[in-house]
Amino acid sequence: MKIFLDTADTEEIRRAASAGLIDGITTNPSLLATAVANRSSTEVLLEICRTVDGPVSAEVVATDLDGMLTEGRRLAALHDNIVVKVPLTEDGLRACRTFRAEGIRVNVTLCFSAVQAALAAKAGATYISPFVGRLDDVGHDGMELVAEIREIYDIYGFDTEVLAASLRHPQHVLQAMLVGADCGTLPPKVLHQLLKHPLTDKGLDAFLADWKASGGEI
Ligand code: E4P
Repeated sequence: MKIFLDTADTEEIRRAASAGLIDGITTNPSLLATAVANRSSTEVLLEICRTVDGPVSAEVVATDLDGMLTEGRRLAALHDNIVVKVPLTEDGLRACRTFRAEGIRVNVTLCFSAVQAALAAKAGATYISPFVGRLDDVGHDGMELVAEIREIYDIYGFDTEVLAASLRHPQHVLQAMLVGADCGTLPPKVLHQLLKHPLTDKGLDAFLADWKASGGEI
């Protein structure tokens, strides 16, 4: 499963990219708003694209077709790594179809049902983003949605990639891998949690103590 970092924090992105831990980035208007400070969103997106050799999702904020097309084309022209993110609405899917015809990759976001995901695939989405954590928040099983989309895409041979989003903890990441998501996007905190295991730390401490006691050198 490809691992995307769900942030616009350029420090975190640089750290994860230099460690070779990530395959791409997803942002959304809320994440970009917290990262821009006194910079323009274009500057931030360009810095991200130069740091990460992979897809960087950047979302339109217009909700009408013409606005989405204008913003999406502007975003796509910034850098080859940009994937235009559109919401799963009627106009969002119209925009998706047009972008696909123009060779612009699209991430259809805010997906909360498998039939929505089927419509996005038919509209030519490159990625579909089911929001696992937000479904869990309202008492549903978010991961079941990812599994249903996987099954439908496999039955009908859609090439849209299933991008499990709104992953909030390591168990979400593990489950997304087990149900066959193509990609998962997670915040930096969860990426750090994936790396850590108390037995790794404990084992390393013991090895180093034993080695030190031996007085040996490498
Ligand atoms: C995905 O594209 C979204 O940016 C993100 O995963 C939303 O996560 P949240 O529900 O934790 O805000």
